[in-house]
Formats: sequence, C-alpha cells, structure tokens
Amino acid sequence: MNAPRCDRTEAWGALQGHFEAHGREFDLREAFARDPGRFDAMSVEAPEVFADLSKNLIDTATLHFLLDLADECGVAARRDAMLRGDAINTTEDRAVLHTALRAPRATSGEMPGPFSDDVHHVLDAMLGFVETVRDTAASGIRHVVNIGIGGSDLGPQMVVPALDAFAHPGLRLHFVSNVDGHDITPVLRQLNPAETLFVIASKTFTTQETMANAHAAKAWFDANGGTDTAKHFVATTTNVAAAAQFGITTTFGFWDWVGGRYSLWSSIGLPIALAIGADHFRALLAGAHAMDTHFAQAPAAKNLPLLLGLIDVWYRNFHRFTSRSVAPYHQGLKRLPAYLQQLEMESNGKRVDLDGEPLPFATSPVVWGEPGTNGQHAYFQMLHQGTDVIPVEFILVKQPTHGLTGLHGPLLAQLDRQHTMLLANGLAQSQALMLGKSTAQAQAEKAPTASKALDPLTLARHRTFPGNRPSTTLLLDQLTPRSLGALIALYEHRVFTSGALWGINSFDQWGVELGKALCNDLLPRLGTGDANGLDASTAGLMKRLR
Ligand code: F6P
Repeated sequence: MNAPRCDRTEAWGALQGHFEAHGREFDLREAFARDPGRFDAMSVEAPEVFADLSKNLIDTATLHFLLDLADECGVAARRDAMLRGDAINTTEDRAVLHTALRAPRATSGEMPGPFSDDVHHVLDAMLGFVETVRDTAASGIRHVVNIGIGGSDLGPQMVVPALDAFAHPGLRLHFVSNVDGHDITPVLRQLNPAETLFVIASKTFTTQETMANAHAAKAWFDANGGTDTAKHFVATTTNVAAAAQFGITTTFGFWDWVGGRYSLWSSIGLPIALAIGADHFRALLAGAHAMDTHFAQAPAAKNLPLLLGLIDVWYRNFHRFTSRSVAPYHQGLKRLPAYLQQLEMESNGKRVDLDGEPLPFATSPVVWGEPGTNGQHAYFQMLHQGTDVIPVEFILVKQPTHGLTGLHGPLLAQLDRQHTMLLANGLAQSQALMLGKSTAQAQAEKAPTASKALDPLTLARHRTFPGNRPSTTLLLDQLTPRSLGALIALYEHRVFTSGALWGINSFDQWGVELGKALCNDLLPRLGTGDANGLDASTAGLMKRLR
C-alpha cells in the first residue's frame, strides 16, 4: 500500500486553498438561506442511523475536495486490507479483524469470512454458557462482576446500561476496573459468594489492575465461605494458560487480531450477553455487521463512517478545532463518551506516521461529553459562548424503551411528555449553536433578571451568542441491540477513516507503556523509600506519601 500521506496529496493543497477562500469565514446561516435543499443534500441514511450533516461547516465543494482526499490517500484500499485480514497493525504485525467477530456464518456455497469457524465456535460456546447462567433458578447466580480495564471494561460497561430495557431482571451486572480498592469494595459489600459470578476479563491476563482485583475477589470469595471456584470464576482472554494458572477452568478465548478497544464483540462481550441473552447479543453483532457492509460497499458520497472521518480531519487540520463533544440524549448512553475516548484517543492519539516520521499536522481531538440534558446545565455555556469552537455530536433516539411493563395512565403520559422534552432540548441546542443571537437581538429583548445598573449595550454583549457553531445529529429510531451495534461500528469505522487519512497506525498503543514501566520501578520504592536516581519532584512527592 503506497498511498501518500494526506499532507502530501493534491487534495490537501486544494483543501487548504478552499479553506482560506471559503472555509474560514463559512457561515451556516447563510448556507441554509442560500440552499433550501441543504438538509436533504447533506443527510445520510446508514443502517439504523440517520445522520444530519447539514449543520457542519462544509459545502458541496468541501465535500468534493474531502472525497478526493480519501481517494488519493487510498482509504478504500486500506479498508479492504483491514477487512481481508492483512496485518495493517504493522508495529505489532497483526491483522485487525474485529469485523470478523460479527460476520454471520457463511451459508452453503458462500466463502466463509476470515476465522469464521473459530469465531462461531467460541460464540456458540459462550452463548450456551450464558443461557445456563441466565436460568437463575437453576444457576443460583444473581450478580455478575466483570473485572477488567480499558477495552476489557469500557465496552460492556457502556452497552449494559444502554440496553437495560432488554436485560434479565434477576441478574445485576457490576463493573470493577480501577486498581483503587475503593472500586471493588462497594461492589463486594453487595454480594454473597453463592450468588456471584466473577468474569476476569483481560486480553493479556497480565494487566496490573485486573490481576490485582481478581486476587482481591478471590480472597473475598474464600474469606466469605465461597466454594466451587470453577463455577464462580470464569475468564475471557487470549491467554488461556495464564487464566488456568490463576485457577480458572472455564475460559472463553479470543485472538491477537482483536484490539482491546475493539473487543466487545468477542468473548469480552460476555457480561453483555449475560445481561441481554443470546438472541439480543446476536442482534448487537448483526447491527454492527450491517454497518460493516455499509462501510465496505456504500458509495463514498453516502458512506457515513467515511464522511464523518473526513469531516473530523477537516475540523482538526484546517479549522484546527482541538476537541469534539458528544451529547447522547439518552441516559442509557451515559458511558458512551468514556467508551469513545478510548476508541478514538487510544487509536488516533499518535505523533508519527506508519514510517515512524513525526507528523507535521495534528491528529486525534479530545473527545468528551455527558448525556443531554445534564451537560446543558454544566459546560454547554462554554459551547455557546466560550472562545473555542467545539463541534458537538448530538445523538437523539426517537422512541424510548423504558423497559417497564404495563406502563399506562398518568405515568405513561408523563414519561411520553418527558421524552418529547428530551428531544426538544436536543434539537434546541443544535439550533442555538448554529443560529446564535446578535447583540442587536439581545438588546431588543427583555432580560428581567439582568442588572439594572449596567448600560443596555454592555448587557447585550454579555447576552450575545456568536452562533455558527457546528454540530452533527445522529438519529436512531430506538436504542436496541441492533441499532447500538450499528452505532458503535459507525464510530469504529470513522476512527479508522481519520487514522487512515493521517497515515498513522490506529491499532497499537505504545503510549501506555512508559507509565506502566515507571510504575513497576516505583512500586518497590514506595515500600523501601529508596529515592536513588529519581527526579526531585517524584522523590519529594514519594517522601510525603510514605
Ligand atoms: O493500557 C492500555 C491497554 O492495553 C488497552 O489497550 C487495553 O484495552 C487495556 O489496557 C486492558 O488490557 P487487557 O485486556 O490486556 O487487560
């Protein structure tokens, strides 16, 4: 694959010229006034997800140049290499095949996808196990504790509350990740050994935090009269030998071609499957597969992950926006921003290209957010009137799924009203970001709570909104296993796209290594007080901590 890096293409130069001529001063309000068809032209229908891109700082020419950029950078060829199983994770010489985890089994006469037999063998075994645990009368299990961190935690921890309406009512899911004992102890307080299943989730089965918490769980289990470790501890890992050494006999494996942050579709998804059951877990996979097919086959101009990745590059490298805020208007998606932080920032927070050359342009933005409407009452002030422009991504869900049976009468009516309020809030925020409010408008309005001591112009300036602040709105009909699967896969492929344009390796994470090594050095020193060779700051802090 010899495609040039983005900054060495003709399209990059064309985009720079276009940005100087039209991009920098682009005004969304004028664009909508000029073109009544803008919404239709700039909305895209992908499996389970409708996207309104029209409130972004782009026009047809921007899109045209961005699509040229994708072409010149060989994004399609790189995507095909990923889907085929080429070792595109070059620094670890690994394939990147999370898409294989959600590909259906080939029907007779069809060519099976990569590793299809292995994938379906483990999936069937895992889902068989899931159904035995979910038969709570027989299994006696009431609590499942997933012990894992990073990709072995964030996916399940995000998906389980998102699909609460589909969850087994008699099983409580808990997530423990932090090495800080304050994470596991409040969970342990709620448990008794006979009713608890611990899932030790770690791709490597060597991660400090996970191993420490696994030992804490085992010590608690033994100290509280737990018997039958084989029944109450299972592992999800690529390192079956290490799990066995820990004393775990039931292990669901996966493979080195599944990156940690792309692993919720593998056996790392066990807590999800325990919560929602085999059929819903298969629906989650099917939704993701539908998005994979869209990414692989949809024409570039209507290919949603591709377009989102291109707009990300437009904002990061031409507008130089440093962050993107995600605002899911669904409380079930409360952990989505945290999940996306790992997905995007661990994948694309890189400073050298595939050849190890330092990059002369910026890569991953900071990704952050909170569910709406909560964020509105916290940091939205900055989004509307702060000095930085921060593109916002709204996720709106048309139909609620409250998971309460027999809803009727005043409660049903009240919850319906609340859902309409939620949607109105989401729409209003993207509208306000775009429209803004001029000083003249502010001056013409009454402001009953404003100070009477200040002159009207000064006050109006405080109450001015610049507007023209970009947003994308993603719409789902309902938050179901299938639509959530599609939404997550959409984000995965969008991250792939910007990484491919930047010419970086989105699938390694060497940046986490140095801190781990230094921690291993400091650990014994905290015991002995040996500060030999340490910098003065670390030595001083260590002394105070002992
Ligand atoms: O420290 C980073 C990381 O390697 C992530 O990439 C990974 O998801 C996480 O740690 C957990 O790793 P493991 O699943 O091997 O315990």
